[in-house]
Amino acid sequence: MQDYNMKKVVLITGASSGIGKMTALLLYKQGFTVYGAARRLNKMYDLKEAGINLLQMDVTDDDSMVKGINEIMENEKRIDVLINNAGYGSFGALEDVPLEEARMQFEVNVFGPARLIQLVLPHMRAHKSGRIINVSSMAGRFGQPHGAWYHATKFALEGLSDSLRMELIQFGIDVVVIQPGAIKTEWNIIAGDNLVKMSGNTAYKNSANRHAGMLERVYQLGSEPGVIAKIIARAVRANNPRTRYAAGTGAKPILFLRKILPDRIFDSLFLSQLN
Ligand SMILES: NC(=O)c1ccc[n+]([C@@H]2O[C@H](COP(=O)([O-])OP(=O)(O)OC[C@H]3O[C@@H](n4cnc5c(N)ncnc54)[C@H](OP(=O)(O)O)[C@@H]3O)[C@@H](O)[C@H]2O)c1
Repeated sequence: MQDYNMKKVVLITGASSGIGKMTALLLYKQGFTVYGAARRLNKMYDLKEAGINLLQMDVTDDDSMVKGINEIMENEKRIDVLINNAGYGSFGALEDVPLEEARMQFEVNVFGPARLIQLVLPHMRAHKSGRIINVSSMAGRFGQPHGAWYHATKFALEGLSDSLRMELIQFGIDVVVIQPGAIKTEWNIIAGDNLVKMSGNTAYKNSANRHAGMLERVYQLGSEPGVIAKIIARAVRANNPRTRYAAGTGAKPILFLRKILPDRIFDSLFLSQLN
């Protein structure tokens, strides 16, 4: 059995903000060798000062992902933990969102993480151990209006993770899904802006603008990103990690309601919050 409390090498994407930044700092404090990746290097200088290694990486750019993994392998000769955390919320009514944007949402939230998994697996298999942590969302288990593409990507990440978990058990590699609720980061600002940009002046304008207002209200009650950082660190360190960890404002109650309520009752409950 692996002891994940030894000094291990971790790559975390989306380390320039929110959940990723807090997780990188926490894991570093807990004694891991941490590589933090994102597009905006200038938002990670505080991590560098703390002792974290920086990688400029765009998860839609294959070359930057290959280069990042090569750099870690050259320096450390191993990668023990991959945390696929980079992601954003592409919001807007499905009718309004150009497919080009929908494809970009899948590139960042699904294909980028999948490509990094492909790149780390040969190294993890060589060591007969490793851990892949995919940051999904409570959004990976239910839908909401004007969020079709975001939810589709998180459902995809959940399904991908379930399949991968069974594929990798033979190599001693764990796959874990994290399902945050509402967390105060840049996420809701980007999602709200996208929603208004896509649908704020279309046939969906009334519901879309109400929804943008709801996002703002809900996220004022959001948890701090440190809550999710602690959960991710727990998943990294556990000898036998759970397959899923849900945490943060709303996550557990909403996932429970989604599980027990019939579709139309859940829909009505959700829509009642938009008024
Ligand atoms: N906040 C929430 O309420 C919430 C709830 C459930 C799930 N989540 C999930 O949690 C994860 C982290 O989000 P967050 O809340 O911490 O949001 P955030 O503050 O907006 O951080 C998102 C991170 O993703 C990176 N990123 C975005 N596009 C990228 C790209 N093309 N290539 C590389 N990096 C990219 C950003 O870095 P650069 O822009 O510098 O590249 C940033 O570091 C996401 O997967 C999100 O879907 C968040």
